[in-house]
Amino acid sequence: MRFFIDTANLAQIEEALAMGVIDGVTTNPSLMAKEGIKGAKNVNNHYKTIANLVGDRDVSAEVIATDFEGMKSEGEMFAGLADNIVVKVPMIKEGLKAINYFKENGIRTNCTLIFSAGQALLAANAGANFVSPFIGRVDDIGWNGLNLIEDIFNIFQKQIIDTEILAASIRNPFHIIECAKLGADVATCPLKSIEALLNHPLTDKGLAQFMEDAKKLS
Ligand code: G3P
Repeated sequence: MRFFIDTANLAQIEEALAMGVIDGVTTNPSLMAKEGIKGAKNVNNHYKTIANLVGDRDVSAEVIATDFEGMKSEGEMFAGLADNIVVKVPMIKEGLKAINYFKENGIRTNCTLIFSAGQALLAANAGANFVSPFIGRVDDIGWNGLNLIEDIFNIFQKQIIDTEILAASIRNPFHIIECAKLGADVATCPLKSIEALLNHPLTDKGLAQFMEDAKKLS
């Protein structure tokens, strides 16, 4: 399972790149707003900066329009910013039309705000390259987000669908490990969830012991 980082924060992207653990970046309007990016020109420049920063790794840039024509022109503009931009489109009827259009025109897409297997199937059939099921938000309402990953994985396998499952709304390291076990292709994670995978008390204890013993070597 590949890791993407779910942020528009350049320092966090650089940190994850330096660790060598990420294959892409996902953003959304909330994450862009968190960085204080305002105005279409600055938003586009920020996407361009992220796309350059990550080399040939994927960068999902989310459209703000919710009508077909608006999504089409916004998506075409995003795709023109850099070759590694994937246009992120919401799971609504107009979004499916946009995904279908982008597919026909060689623009890669990530269908976001997926909360059911049916939505994932629709997005895949429309031609999405990625579907983004939001597992944390499903958990938030008392359901099981990981079951959604399992359902989509089973359906895509049985139906021989090559749309990639990009697990999103990851909140903790447990989500990441379970998504890997369930067969998600990608997990897009906040940096803190990726870094939480580093922690183990036996690693800390073992390192402290090695450092103590290293003193005897000098
Ligand atoms: O990738 C989607 C993600 O940013 C949503 O996460 O934590 O706002 O549910 P969250």
